[in-house]
Amino acid sequence: MHMTLKVAVSGASGYVGGEVLRVFSEHPDVEFGSLTAHSSAGDRLGVHQPHLRSLADRDIVATSVDTLAGHDVVVLALPHGTSGAIAAQLPPETLVLDCGADHRLASAEAWAEYYGGDHSGTWPYGMPELITADGHQRDALPGAKRVAVPGCNVTAVTLGLQPGVAAGVIDPTDLTAVLAVGYSGAGKKLATNLLASEGLGAASPYAVGGTHRHIPEIVQNLGVAGADDVRISFTPTLVPMARGILATMTAPLAAGVDADQVRAAWESAYADEPFVHVLPEGQWPTTAATLGANTCLVQVAVDKKAGRVVVVSAIDNLVKGTAGAALQSMNIVLGYPETTGLQLQGVAP
Ligand SMILES: NC(=O)c1ccc[n+]([C@@H]2O[C@H](COP(=O)([O-])OP(=O)(O)OC[C@H]3O[C@@H](n4cnc5c(N)ncnc54)[C@H](OP(=O)(O)O)[C@@H]3O)[C@@H](O)[C@H]2O)c1
Repeated sequence: MHMTLKVAVSGASGYVGGEVLRVFSEHPDVEFGSLTAHSSAGDRLGVHQPHLRSLADRDIVATSVDTLAGHDVVVLALPHGTSGAIAAQLPPETLVLDCGADHRLASAEAWAEYYGGDHSGTWPYGMPELITADGHQRDALPGAKRVAVPGCNVTAVTLGLQPGVAAGVIDPTDLTAVLAVGYSGAGKKLATNLLASEGLGAASPYAVGGTHRHIPEIVQNLGVAGADDVRISFTPTLVPMARGILATMTAPLAAGVDADQVRAAWESAYADEPFVHVLPEGQWPTTAATLGANTCLVQVAVDKKAGRVVVVSAIDNLVKGTAGAALQSMNIVLGYPETTGLQLQGVAP
């Protein structure tokens, strides 16, 4: 298949928009149309994304239905609550990939509780590897016109825990997840707690106590993967790195299950996945090994004395955690090989 896909990127001055431009530029058929944003409209892209050399002289324009018209694909990388109104006015034949949260949740009540405001509706969910009742979420994507790209923390936790849930080898009613999160996860907005003087040399927990907005999305996903009742204690901590998420999750071992069955559940779940890799026993994921790549690295162990399964997963929040997931979904929607244009190799050291 050889065609030109005219892709608009809205939020092009932000972290996700920049990563969408970097990742999508590796796709053989992608050609960028409008690059839109808000306060930076009128600036050259190179002012805000100096690493994107081939696009440095492109102009950023205001985000509007007019500037986003006439494209095959529109990628929205906007603050939550912003994309719903814009997407509703885009032509139904345009493929819209929303990297924000507006269309991820099936429950309007959960949206109201965690985000507030009106729920914009629910789109097909862009996590191809999500285990569903009769296969994987990738089966639901071909031909879709709207895709909700998952949250970054959600991706690390869902991919970490879902094999155990789907195989019934862990108890999903007593899950814990503690995450080390790089600062780009918070976006480019100015805030005191995001200053280098606060963050360098510090590990800083936030949204502690069941308040983080990604919790209902994780619960939703693990429900799709087979859990009737999901209860998860979720605690993210900002750590002084620009990118990356390291999620450490634990769950009670289900009754009568041994360590071999646990390992088999994770290894079989991801045996055929191009981007989710269970590491050899004893080797633990690091965020550094995923930088710049569309990979999720996973390891699992059984803590026999505690009676719990321990899972560690690592992703680059800007690649597998959003821009890479968006491109992977676009490939499936449009009938390209799922891996087209996506990086398997990370940047190291
Ligand atoms: N950061 C991550 O790791 C990550 C991962 C997964 C998903 N996400 C989601 O992706 C979205 C973007 O996140 P980000 O980290 O890229 O944020 P960001 O760095 O703060 O960028 C936000 C972008 O949205 C634009 N914008 C702000 N208000 C707007 C408005 N009213 N209308 C149109 N454009 C507007 C900004 O334009 P100006 O700069 O011109 O004002 C900027 O381009 C968020 O929904 C976030 O939750 C983020």
